[in-house]
Amino acid sequence: MVYVTRKEHFSAAHRLYNPEWSDEKNQEVFGKCNNPAGHGHNYYVEVTVVGEPDPETGYVVDLKLLKRVIHDEVLSKVDHKNLNEDVSFLRGKIPTAENIAVGIWEQLIGKIPSGSLHSVKLYETEKNIVEYRG
Ligand code: NI
Repeated sequence: MVYVTRKEHFSAAHRLYNPEWSDEKNQEVFGKCNNPAGHGHNYYVEVTVVGEPDPETGYVVDLKLLKRVIHDEVLSKVDHKNLNEDVSFLRGKIPTAENIAVGIWEQLIGKIPSGSLHSVKLYETEKNIVEYRG
């Protein structure tokens, strides 16, 4: 099997906040990520597709097509958006890196042009990274 990755970037704002909790508990658990006016990140996402290279093209997946799917299904919905307010696939979820990675997976699964979706790896910062494999 061969693993093919497309890396993309988006910028977005969020606030980590559980509406079921008191302000004090939110502050205790989420700290500065609970800032009421939100804060931003420059996210990077790596989408990995696995499969065997097609004997005619040599491709597991045509990266031009994969790029388009990631753009249409994910980036167009999250780039320069508020992840708490603007993103239908995150509605009702706390927009942690974990939930964003799962949401991106759910947007992409079934839309991969060829091969199979293997993982979605989300870099919220250079040091904070989440990977979802379904
Ligand atoms: Ni944050």
